[in-house]
Amino acid sequence: MMKLQQLYEGKAKRVYATDDESRVIVSYKDDATAFNGQKKGTIVGKGVVNNRVTNYLMRLLETEGVPTHFVEELSDRETVVKKVEIVPLEVIVRNISAGSFSKRYGVEEGIVFERPTVEFSYKNDDLGDPLINDDHALALRLATAEEIAVIKTLALRVNDVLKAFFKRVNVDLVDFKLEFGRLADGTIVLADEISPDTCRFWDSTTHEKLDKDRFRRDLGGVEDAYSEMMRRILG
Ligand code: TMP
Repeated sequence: MMKLQQLYEGKAKRVYATDDESRVIVSYKDDATAFNGQKKGTIVGKGVVNNRVTNYLMRLLETEGVPTHFVEELSDRETVVKKVEIVPLEVIVRNISAGSFSKRYGVEEGIVFERPTVEFSYKNDDLGDPLINDDHALALRLATAEEIAVIKTLALRVNDVLKAFFKRVNVDLVDFKLEFGRLADGTIVLADEISPDTCRFWDSTTHEKLDKDRFRRDLGGVEDAYSEMMRRILG
């Protein structure tokens, strides 16, 4: 497979065309942002951690019946994925209160929910990724009703698989953000990444944060947390 011109540069990844119309190459950067890009920094080695962790989890999810965009890991930072049209919804699943949920509803972090919650944000940097409901997503034609139903079902299946997996490495999966894409034939697949950038991970014993909240909240030990998560996941 030949890497061709850059198609897109996001906050954490670059995407390149290839000589295969149906494939692109993603390249993970060490750049970190928070609060819609207002806070900027570098997390040394993050690109390697996020690439390898994402690919490990995507492979696991495929074996558990979740279709993903994953094709082949090329190197520590680069992966071939199926080309998709990203559905402009950030799909957030929560098992424990934290972050914007705690802020919005005025509750402490750490309340364990009886059932997971699923919510959507409209993926739009100019608007700051606002919370959106199903009816509004339909009105804006961001996805069809059928697609929204598939996305919710897949998101909850991802949660079941990942919760069980992380329990085995002594990590509580607090919440996470997924993105889905459409293949050329319209099939919905899991896309983007699943990493310490996009999940909250708390050590089950000490409740220590092992994710991007260390960067967002200036807690220190950011690189150590990322490499610790890679060690636990990849073994
Ligand atoms: P939140 O509590 O800030 O809404 O975040 C929920 C989850 O989504 C958390 O695991 C971090 C992740 N997330 C992203 O991946 N990208 C984002 O831009 C934001 C705001 C959160």
